[in-house]
Amino acid sequence: MGAPGSFLNDIKEIRQRARRHLSDGAITKNYGGKVEDAITLLNHAVATEIVCVLRYKFHAVCATGLASEAVKEEFAQHAKEEGEHLDMLAERINQLGGKPNLNPDGLGQRAASEYVEGANLIEMIKEDLIAERIAIETYREMVRYFGDKDSTTRVLLERILAQEEEHANDMHDLLVTHEGRPMLEK
Ligand SMILES: [Fe+2]
Ligand SMILES: [Fe+2]
Repeated sequence: MGAPGSFLNDIKEIRQRARRHLSDGAITKNYGGKVEDAITLLNHAVATEIVCVLRYKFHAVCATGLASEAVKEEFAQHAKEEGEHLDMLAERINQLGGKPNLNPDGLGQRAASEYVEGANLIEMIKEDLIAERIAIETYREMVRYFGDKDSTTRVLLERILAQEEEHANDMHDLLVTHEGRPMLEK
């Protein structure tokens, strides 16, 4: 947009463009990034969330031991929230005119986080904390990438990032509780 005086002319053009490019849906000329790149990045996040849903679900079902009931509930709650992240990302990809990649083939390669079963409760909690830390770092990078190029996607990613930070904190608390000592090592 130019000087304030040219605003009416801009509006004319904006109206014409809005009518001409209906097939672009929500994507307008001033979309700041490359839509294809945005969709690719978001599909990596989709894969990460699917892997996180699956790993937390496995942990929620398979955690054993006297101390595990409350932890199982926490795992199940996280699985549900990772599923919500997945839905939000898939919706955004659709709004951007792309297709969410939900194909199980190659899922593990597309995801940043890993699917690790863990041999016992402590191992499970550790694996989840590791996965959350991976998610946090990748979402933070993505937030920076989108910046003001695509503020809707950035805000969405910021919301998810905040919840991943809560998840990491939950897992850290559980680890401290169940290992019985503070986690000081790097
Ligand atoms: Fe998530
Ligand atoms: Fe998470």
